[in-house]
Amino acid sequence: MCNCNDMIPDMRYAALEKMLGKYQGSTGKIIPVLQETQEIFGYIPEEAIKTIAAALKIPSSEVFGVATFYGLFHLEARGQNIIRVCTGTACHVQGSGKVLEAFKNALDLAPGTMTTADLQFTVEPVACLGACGMAPVIMINEDAYGRINPDDVPKILAHYQEKDDKERCIA
Ligand code: FES
Repeated sequence: MCNCNDMIPDMRYAALEKMLGKYQGSTGKIIPVLQETQEIFGYIPEEAIKTIAAALKIPSSEVFGVATFYGLFHLEARGQNIIRVCTGTACHVQGSGKVLEAFKNALDLAPGTMTTADLQFTVEPVACLGACGMAPVIMINEDAYGRINPDDVPKILAHYQEKDDKERCIA
């Protein structure tokens, strides 16, 4: 199996530098720059904040301030698969707390972390996903699942692990 992990960061920083070339001398472009940075890395690394600040000739604190103000930006690495567990009222009443714990236990997440060490999964409690009649509801990437039981969790995770393995084989 090919392991390209050592190569990926350099390629991403090269992509960042190339993208920043479009914005040289631009002011007031922090948001599109951060959006493109997050597309490149999957999140906004601290080192990228410094690089962006230097390219836009603004303080790092200004870039950091914008990146932390908007909920759409993430300052920590996230998993390839984002598991959103609804903890809204309807889902809470139907046991979403146990579903959330089942995901955290099955993924062996360290206390205080929501992303697996191999960056395959991130678990996020979220507010209402708009399908209360199917509570408890989860979303994994773009896929929604309703009436989830904690016992379903291993089977669901195995599906995504298998899917990721197949994609790695094709790549
Ligand atoms: S409360 Fe969970 S989908 Fe609405």
